[in-house]
Amino acid sequence: MSVPVKTLLLLCLMGLSCSKKDRVTCADQSRLYACSKFEIGVAVDLTALQFDSLYREIVNTQFNRVTPENAFKIAALHPEKNQFNWTEADVLVDYCLKNNQKLHGHTLVWHANLPAWVENYTGSESDWEELFKNHIQTICRHFKGKVQSWDVVNEAFNENGTLRNSIWKQKLGPSYIEKAFQYAHEADPGALLFYNDFNLSMNPSKRKAVLKLMQNLRHRGVPIDGIGMQMHISIQWPENADMAEAMEEITEAGFKLHLSEIDISLNPYNKEFDLTEELLNRQADKMKAISLMYQRLPEQLQFGMSFWGVSDTYSWIRSSFNREDYPLLFDDAYQIKPMYKKLKETL
Ligand code: XIL
Repeated sequence: MSVPVKTLLLLCLMGLSCSKKDRVTCADQSRLYACSKFEIGVAVDLTALQFDSLYREIVNTQFNRVTPENAFKIAALHPEKNQFNWTEADVLVDYCLKNNQKLHGHTLVWHANLPAWVENYTGSESDWEELFKNHIQTICRHFKGKVQSWDVVNEAFNENGTLRNSIWKQKLGPSYIEKAFQYAHEADPGALLFYNDFNLSMNPSKRKAVLKLMQNLRHRGVPIDGIGMQMHISIQWPENADMAEAMEEITEAGFKLHLSEIDISLNPYNKEFDLTEELLNRQADKMKAISLMYQRLPEQLQFGMSFWGVSDTYSWIRSSFNREDYPLLFDDAYQIKPMYKKLKETL
């Protein structure tokens, strides 16, 4: 890593950002996170943070936890077998720590975002073991004491409750999941370790399979602190009762619950679309319901909520699915939406 480059990037970011005193541009100047007993997080993109001052303003003032949206994924941090690239991730980490924001690392083990060297690797089973352990432990050691929590394993289950046939399962067998948690814990015993997945409220059989495995592993001493329910949802689904049931089941099993990756789609089926007050209000009502049901859970298990993006402009839904949508707390002009107001009212 080149220290001058890193220092330059960080200085540039700090220089561009407002000091705590002169934050003036948010339509509502009070801070969302200050209203909340649990952390309110956001997925951050370093390029936007560097070059978009309104984006940066919102990150600085509204959130007290940051999940790097892509900067901690394997292709970014570990682009070649014997090469780790810390420069950008370190800039983001230092920036957040200076801003008193907690960091949630996403993600150590995932079937997606694999660099070519992993896909093409032809080692023996023990070579794969070594590569896997080295990947997890080098990253956890590097960020030890800086990253509070990790999504250790992301999206390991299929919708029918079986294990996804990821490259990690193919090469290491199903025990790769427990090994990942053990390796992460060995490298940074202070970090909180999460399993993260989607559709856990829409699909009770997937949720039950996840919970069964996680409880089983925990009984055998595998260090798993919590579960992240990815909240890529819409105004049409899931039903509020199904979300409440999922949250209750996870916390009744004793896991901390992270409402991770929140975005509430207005246009999940990519239909012809008119943005109306009515749709924005439905989105706000859904947010309110989620917030209220989350706050009914035992406080020590409320790890927090994290939104998957700052403003609608930056939502992955637009770029990944190429559809018109408005799923986040801030609109394209960086103004707060009804969803923001309703969330704040409930906190
Ligand atoms: C997404 C990012 O938001 C995009 O920028 C990227 O192109 C693809 O990945 N579930 C996850 C996240 O766990 O890592 C994904 O993030 C969204 C779905």
